[in-house]
Amino acid sequence: MVHTHIVLISAPFQGVINSVIQFAKNLKRMGVKITILSSVSAQNRMAKASSSTPDGLTFVSFSDGYDDGLELSDNLEHFRSENKRRGSKALSELIKASCEEGCPVTGVVYAMLLPWVAEVAREFNLPSAPLWIQTATIFTLYFHYFNGYGDLIKKICDDPSCAIELPGLGKITSHDLPTFMLPSNISSVGLQGFKEQLDALNAEVNPKILVNTFDELESKALRAIGKQYLIAIGPLVPSAFLDGKDPSDNAFGGDLLQKSRDYVEWLDSKPQSSVVYISFGSFFNLQLQEMEEIGRGLLESNRPFLWVSRVLADGEKQEDKLSCKEKLEKQGLIVSCCSQVEVLSHPSVGCFVTHCGWNSTLESLVLGIPVVCLPQFTDQPTNAKLLEDEFKTGVRATKNDEGIVEGDEIKRCIELVMGDGEIGEEIRKNAKKWKYLAKEAAKEGGSSHKNLRAFVDEIEDGFQ
Ligand code: UDX
Repeated sequence: MVHTHIVLISAPFQGVINSVIQFAKNLKRMGVKITILSSVSAQNRMAKASSSTPDGLTFVSFSDGYDDGLELSDNLEHFRSENKRRGSKALSELIKASCEEGCPVTGVVYAMLLPWVAEVAREFNLPSAPLWIQTATIFTLYFHYFNGYGDLIKKICDDPSCAIELPGLGKITSHDLPTFMLPSNISSVGLQGFKEQLDALNAEVNPKILVNTFDELESKALRAIGKQYLIAIGPLVPSAFLDGKDPSDNAFGGDLLQKSRDYVEWLDSKPQSSVVYISFGSFFNLQLQEMEEIGRGLLESNRPFLWVSRVLADGEKQEDKLSCKEKLEKQGLIVSCCSQVEVLSHPSVGCFVTHCGWNSTLESLVLGIPVVCLPQFTDQPTNAKLLEDEFKTGVRATKNDEGIVEGDEIKRCIELVMGDGEIGEEIRKNAKKWKYLAKEAAKEGGSSHKNLRAFVDEIEDGFQ
């Protein structure tokens, strides 16, 4: 029998890297040989993320011309074309070399929105599948947009009071759509990129998309566009928090960007479920006014907090400009980075104020932490809707007419989630339920474990 050898290809974003590394570890535990191919900047971040990987993974890198990393201000079209041109060459060389070395590549899995990978895999007659690191709901929404429901979706954008129901999804309004679908963003790289990815999948005889979710969490959305299409293999979070078999697999790379871990000692000193944790992911920066309001809400809630405020590209610390900085520092701790999974699993944390990036959302579910949702862009509004209406583990904060969530509203939401009222109790009960179900899905014999095993078997059969 040919040994299964899968090449994984990542994009250079922290959220993607975390999922790819975790996916690689899960495959490795099933006895699959893994080679990870990525750009130099992704590789640099991955090397940090994988230093806690005891079983080791093979890394190969190529320069896409953005070796120092991609900024939101960079020309994304140029990045995508260079990534495709140079990445295609590197992947072809890697596949050829693997044959010469006697351990041929038998399948390719790539971060979604790198559709050039599917073309290269086809040239070598290899099965390939994208790894979608957002929800099945978002994939289904995009799919519907390009398959008959585009006009209906555009219609709700014109009338915010109008709701529609799409196959596999509950009722949605424009408020719940990913921002790439809104008229102001319609020509964005995000939507175009998705269309190119769909076209690449349409060229496959037997398309499969691996999704970082689990059957129990998004059962309807997973089935909305065909039985064999979306395969739930998540949640992709360090296994120490799921099956607990590998205690060393307990962090993501993001935390390694910062050496200081004083925050753990600080958390240790706080009562159970008392701390509000605030973070907006790995690359989004808030406006100063938004930060002022968060600061005000935290002061008014009068609860201890741990706030991740990222250092800007020019080295500036935004919190230094906050008018209430001194008062805040008496009540809580502001850090530039932390190990989020470690923080969320700490007994003193009782609430997560989040931008609702999908990794953060999944981590909140896996660790059973109720949330206050402050979505910013892309899939985050949809994730906030899922958290509030479907998973029922949090509340979505309301913006004022200027698009800002005010301090009073933040305080109201924190109190709702952490307070003694019925709503808070229900939310905390649901959070515990999802924590249990996430673990069940990931454990041996659980739904995601079985789905991944079946996928590996199909790779071995060449997707026949
Ligand atoms: C991006 C998009 O913004 C998001 O909407 C999409 O769903 C995924 O890609 P990002 O903004 O980085 O992701 O947010 P998120 O998906 O939540 O990922 C952030 C990751 O970095 C999480 O795994 C989190 O645990 C980790 N992190 C973040 C840390 O470990 N420490 C930190 O201080 C901040």
